[in-house]
Amino acid sequence: MSRTLLVAGGAGFIGANFVHYWLENHPEDRVLALDALTYAGNPANLLPVWNDPRFRFYPGRIEDPTVVNGIFRVEKITHLLNFAAESHNDRSLLDPVSLINTNVTGVAVLLEAARQHGVERFLHVSTDEVYGEIGAGAFRESDPLEPRTPYSAGKAGGEMMARAHRIAYQTPVVITRGSNTFGPYQYPEKLLPFFITRALQNRKLPLYGSGQQVRDWIFVRDHCTGIATALERGATGEAYNVGGGNERTNLEVTRRLLAILQKPETLIQPIGDPRGEAHDRRYALDSAKLHALGWKPAHDFDAALERTVRWYVEHESWWRPIVESEGYRAFVARYYGPYLGEEL
Ligand SMILES: NC(=O)c1ccc[n+]([C@@H]2O[C@H](COP(=O)([O-])OP(=O)(O)OC[C@H]3O[C@@H](n4cnc5c(N)ncnc54)[C@H](O)[C@@H]3O)[C@@H](O)[C@H]2O)c1
Repeated sequence: MSRTLLVAGGAGFIGANFVHYWLENHPEDRVLALDALTYAGNPANLLPVWNDPRFRFYPGRIEDPTVVNGIFRVEKITHLLNFAAESHNDRSLLDPVSLINTNVTGVAVLLEAARQHGVERFLHVSTDEVYGEIGAGAFRESDPLEPRTPYSAGKAGGEMMARAHRIAYQTPVVITRGSNTFGPYQYPEKLLPFFITRALQNRKLPLYGSGQQVRDWIFVRDHCTGIATALERGATGEAYNVGGGNERTNLEVTRRLLAILQKPETLIQPIGDPRGEAHDRRYALDSAKLHALGWKPAHDFDAALERTVRWYVEHESWWRPIVESEGYRAFVARYYGPYLGEEL
């Protein structure tokens, strides 16, 4: 039976990669992307599928019920996946209020539309950051949600709406909590594409604190197959961790990408930590629950990092207009200006 997926946030980094993945692997299915094209959303991320007759793009905001219900009226959607979010921690610290529209209200609007029109599955893409930080060991799905930034608090709020919908209305909700994701089409404000594109321009890489924060890195294709596994095989009402099992400090990752690019480590400029107390020191996920459904990451970290770096080297036409845009430069100036001065 062919399915129709509505992918909210489908023009963003992980959403677009998921759209590519799904259409490549499910020739019978249709995929619709709904996206507001915020600064992080980019139609160019969908170019490889734009002319595919199984694909359709709908512009609009997820917190707008007219938009969402309008799509449900003209399309027979079987699966709704929500990737849409204000997804950047640093921006959330600058503006901790407006993200609630997307990360909480938007989720509630999508859930309500799914309830009214009926779907086989509602998959909500969440993050490991809802757990807060962990000193040793790894988070399991049953651990409490203790977010420490406005971004992760908003994501936890979205999860709570999904959880309540499942209990109150039996909406067929499944949640995934992925770890730090990297790969092609990632907006160059997150650590890896920010540093890769700056290194390619021989600019300084402003590394927070001592760079000792530990993240569990996952290649975007593995994150997508994890989401697909939870969508198809996950139990309704359950949450699934999607971790790559690649714990690295930010400093290690930075050194590695400089080595791949054959650029000097003198480009690294340690700076004070703008996140202060809110900068989680370590995240780690126990993904045994998803492994039990038959999923495991297929990409070696070093090979995936090389592939990612190569993609940015080969796709300057994708990132150059972004890094030269007024909005992007204003963000970098506001956030890093005090540390980089003339080097901006
Ligand atoms: N990037 C990571 O490392 C990571 C890790 C775990 C989980 N996640 C989660 O995965 C999801 C996707 O993350 P990403 O890195 O691809 O983010 P992204 O910022 O690249 O993409 C978000 C997309 O959502 C769209 N969007 C934002 N607000 C919207 C709204 N109100 N209505 C419609 N569209 C809207 C944007 O235009 C953009 O295309 C997010 O929910 C995020 O919390 C990300």
